[in-house]
Amino acid sequence: MKFSRRSAVEPFHAMDVLAEATRRRSAGHPVISMAVGQPVHPAPQAVLAAARTALEHGRIGYTDALGLQALRQAIADDYRTRHGVSVDPGRIAVTTGSSAGFNLAFLVLFDPGDRVAIARPGYPAYRNILAALGIETVEIEVSAENGFTLTPESLEKAQSESGKKLDGVLLASPANPTGTVTGRDNLKALADYCTANGIAFISDEIYHGLTFVGQETTALELTDQAVVINSFSKYYCMTGWRIGWMVLPEELVRPIERVAQSLYISAPELSQIAAAAAFGATEELDRYRDAYRRNRDMLARRLPELGLSIASPMDGAFYAYADVSRFTNDSMAFARKMLAEINVAATPGFDFDPIEGHRTMRFSYAGSYDDMVEAMDRIGAWLE
Ligand SMILES: Cc1ncc(COP(=O)(O)O)c(C=O)c1O
Repeated sequence: MKFSRRSAVEPFHAMDVLAEATRRRSAGHPVISMAVGQPVHPAPQAVLAAARTALEHGRIGYTDALGLQALRQAIADDYRTRHGVSVDPGRIAVTTGSSAGFNLAFLVLFDPGDRVAIARPGYPAYRNILAALGIETVEIEVSAENGFTLTPESLEKAQSESGKKLDGVLLASPANPTGTVTGRDNLKALADYCTANGIAFISDEIYHGLTFVGQETTALELTDQAVVINSFSKYYCMTGWRIGWMVLPEELVRPIERVAQSLYISAPELSQIAAAAAFGATEELDRYRDAYRRNRDMLARRLPELGLSIASPMDGAFYAYADVSRFTNDSMAFARKMLAEINVAATPGFDFDPIEGHRTMRFSYAGSYDDMVEAMDRIGAWLE
């Protein structure tokens, strides 16, 4: 059978590790998974209660492609509460997780052959979705030298070196896997640079609510030209509900709506009803965030003691990106062996960085403290 060229897209290795971990767990192995950024906690009580009520009393159907009005209003209200910014609910599109938001943004903003810059190391699905759509990914190395984030200077350099203009820039803050929290001034400089140069700026804010060092800024505070993408998956502990949102510049609302109508019809109504209750659960969710902070502090201490130095800031999100070059030059083999021999799953750095990632691993610390401690004990004994 003939397959399209786009079907040869790189696997999302973290998901492959998750699948292998699930297989081993089903076969009775005591697996601890630090592979995927998935909170161990259930969705907030209010979310579960809203979903139960909806199931008992309602018909779950399609909604408008842009989402339920009540949820769009609740999202807008939360921007006012958290950031003091006023957002017209009409600029909000509810999506099937932020993953659908990326699809929609890329489809509406870019044509095949266009060029979009992302950070390296960075979230692998950006590169994979862009590749599947025939859009060129321009990976820009981030390191201690540039504060592990993109800057106008690094964008300028990437363009002058290639002699080709960028069409888009996508930045996550807090970032996966580096944990970088991009400061307000830097974010503003990036947004301004993009506006001045006719480059679309996409701000992935999915790890908002999970900042441990520094201050969280939404691009909405700085510009009305950015495409902001967010999700209920991380801080709100709703990965499996597949629900997220975009905040769009006015003129993009209708094009996004048109593409979303045919691609998705709508995000799941049950998840939309439930998600509207999530904004009232701050106390519960902040307790979970404090638990991640405890995991983070423990890993920041234990990983270097084991010879795995921390390779980036860990200021936000819930990942430790560690240098494993003392033990291996092949992070894929290291991940496979670690899972097979001690039942600890983590993600090879290759997923995030095709050039340097052979010597790094990403450990998600969204799990329970006891599991994290047990994982460190196993890794310590194994490496000895
Ligand atoms: C930076 C980043 N963006 C987006 C996503 C996708 O999340 P979802 O589709 O569940 O909203 C993830 C998931 O790990 C991520 O790390």
